[in-house]
Amino acid sequence: MQFFLDTANLSQIREAEELGLVDGVTTNPTLLAREGGDWRSQAREILKIVDGPVSLEVVSEDAEGMIREARDLHAMGKNVVVKIPMIREGLKALKVLRGDGIRTNVTLIFSPMQALLAAKLGADYVSPFVGRLDAISRGGMEIVSQIREIYDNYGFDTKILVASVRNPMHVLEGALIGADVATIPFAVIEELIRHPLTDSGLASFLADWKAFQEDG
Ligand code: G3P
Repeated sequence: MQFFLDTANLSQIREAEELGLVDGVTTNPTLLAREGGDWRSQAREILKIVDGPVSLEVVSEDAEGMIREARDLHAMGKNVVVKIPMIREGLKALKVLRGDGIRTNVTLIFSPMQALLAAKLGADYVSPFVGRLDAISRGGMEIVSQIREIYDNYGFDTKILVASVRNPMHVLEGALIGADVATIPFAVIEELIRHPLTDSGLASFLADWKAFQEDG
């Protein structure tokens, strides 16, 4: 399973890179806006740090605008994946972008049928938003499981990118289902690393070792 970092924050990206845990990065307009400043320079900095796929999202709501923006974003780096919203105009844009050889991530996926449509139109990734589905009691991971089954039934190679991750269980369940990627906020990466029994186990090993050294 690949781990992408769901952030536009450069220090978080650098830190996760140092850990060797970043296979890619996903951003969205909210995440870029949160960092402030010039979004284009921010995106360029991210592209300098990360070799893997970096998702940058269009903000137009019509296919023509999305296609224009997608071509512009694609020109920023060979590892750019263009995020397209799962709306009717987005689907129109997908068809054209596929012809241009521009990689796409269809975002704001909330049902397996939306994921099927995106795959039929050649999306490279689909992003089911599991945390936001859980928040309305709709079982986010259930749709990931259904998308996996549908893609396997028909041999689609569109990658399932679990998005809107809120906790380690989302990553665990995604891995068990066989999702290709989870895009994870930095705080959840830290939660994945830590376990209280690891901390207390290490503390007791080191205390015993120190006592042994002092006795000797
Ligand atoms: O970047 C896409 C997605 O992961 C955002 O999720 O729900 O945390 O805004 P959310």
